Amino acid sequence: MNETDKRLAALAAIKEIQPGMVVGLGTGSTAAFAIEALGERVRGGLAIRAVATSLATEAHARAVGITLIDLPAEIDLTIDGADEIDDGLRAIKGAGGAMLREKIVAAASKRMVVIADGSKRVAAIGAAKIPVETLPFAQGFVAARLEKLGGAPVLRAGFVTDQGNCILDCRFAADTDKELLAAQIDAIPGALGHGLFLTEVDAAYIAADGVVTRLERGARTR
Ligand code: A5P
Repeated sequence: MNETDKRLAALAAIKEIQPGMVVGLGTGSTAAFAIEALGERVRGGLAIRAVATSLATEAHARAVGITLIDLPAEIDLTIDGADEIDDGLRAIKGAGGAMLREKIVAAASKRMVVIADGSKRVAAIGAAKIPVETLPFAQGFVAARLEKLGGAPVLRAGFVTDQGNCILDCRFAADTDKELLAAQIDAIPGALGHGLFLTEVDAAYIAADGVVTRLERGARTR
C-alpha cells in the first residue's frame, strides 16, 4: 500500500465534485485523503453537502468543515475506497467494517467512484476476505449458513460495527460465482450486509507509481 498513490487517486476523484452536489463520503485510509482535500476546497468556498458512511468519517468530515446531512433519497457522487477491484469494476469492500452503510450510500448514488492505490487492482476479485455484517443474535446461525456456502467464517474479534453488530470475515474459493454468492448471502436472515460490490461502482481512480488510471464502467480511459 502506498500513501502517495492513495492521495493521488483521491485528489483525481475529488475533481469530479461540483458546487451544489450532495457527496457520499467513504470510509478508510484512502477515503480519508479525499475528505481532507475536499475539506480544503470547502474552506475555500465550495458549497456542497455530504453524507458519511461511518461514524469515523462523520467525525473527520466535521473536523475539516464539511456540512453533513442525513441520507437523502439521492446522492450525486460517492467517493470510497476498496480492498480489491478488477477491471470490470467489481469490488470487495469492508476491511474497515463499514460496508453496510457504504452499500446503502452507493445504492443511493447516481455515480459511485472508487479510489485506490495499485495494490488493490486485481485481475479478478476473490482473494480478499468478504466481510458479512451480522446481527449478534443470529451470529451462530449466519456462521453456519456461510460455512455451508464454503466461506470459512471467522468472527472479527473485538469489533463492533457502527450499528452495534458483529462481522464474520469469510474466505471463499477464488473461483466462487460472486453474483450467486451475493444473492445467497443476501438471502440469509440475520446477515445484514456484505462486502461484495458487483454492480455499484461506476468508475475507479487507481494510482500506481504516481500514475493515475481512470476506469469507467463499459470503457477504459487513461
Ligand atoms: C471500509 O469498510 C472499507 O470498505 C474501505 O473502504 C476499504 O477497506 C478500503 O480501505 P483503505 O482505503 O483503508 O484501504
